[in-house]
This record gives sequence, C-alpha cells and structure tokens, in this order.
Amino acid sequence: MEHFKNPRNIGVIENPTAIIQVGDPDCGDTLLLSLKIKKDRVVDIKYKVYGCAAAIATSSIASEMAMGKTLNEVLKIDEKAITKALGGLPGEKNHCSNLAAGALRGAINEYRKSALKRA
Ligand code: FES
Ligand code: FES
Repeated sequence: MEHFKNPRNIGVIENPTAIIQVGDPDCGDTLLLSLKIKKDRVVDIKYKVYGCAAAIATSSIASEMAMGKTLNEVLKIDEKAITKALGGLPGEKNHCSNLAAGALRGAINEYRKSALKRA
C-alpha cells in the first residue's frame, strides 16, 4: 500500500543505457523501464506504469531492489522476490509482479546483446 501511495523512482531516465516497454496482454497494463548501467551495475532506474495499483507497487519496490545492484543480482529479482518484498499480493494480483520482473530481465538481456554487438 505504501509503495502504491508513494511510488519511488517514477520517471524516464535521459540517455538511458537500456530502456524497455513491456505489457501484459491480458489486462493491458504496461510498464516503461529505463536503466543507467555503469560497470555492470544499475546506477539509476526509473519507470512509468500505465496500470493497476499492484503494478505500480511492484514496480516501485522492484526499482528499489535493483538500484545499485550488479546485473547478475538484478536478474535474481524475480516475481516471487518482488511479491515477498511487498509482503504478498492478493491471489488475482500475483501476475502484476510479472511486469516489473519481466522488464528488468528484458532490459538486461537487451543491454547485454547490444554490448556484444558493440564489442
Ligand atoms: Fe487494469 Fe491492471 S487490469 S489496471
Ligand atoms: Fe495487470 Fe496488475 S492487473 S498488472
């Protein structure tokens, strides 16, 4: 509830290292996630959610969990870890944590792919 009323790290990073938009085809909610990555670490993270309260709360807490972490650590922030950090979600809202977890994984995968291309 606290993360829904006072979501952290809202916005879009200027000149992000990685940016991704993910959507849930069932409910239509979407999340735009941008990351600043330096030396394999997330040094800044911002997001915009167009979605339900649970999507906002899960994105907010996921952004706090990812801030300052190495990319391998961020990849471990999955749906379960996010839901647990929030103290649980009502059953029908469990899927809402997929947005943030999927966006984190997607952004890092894209970043790694483009880093390979640059190398
Ligand atoms: Fe509409 Fe999540 S289903 S906001
Ligand atoms: Fe779809 Fe919450 S209802 S993300």
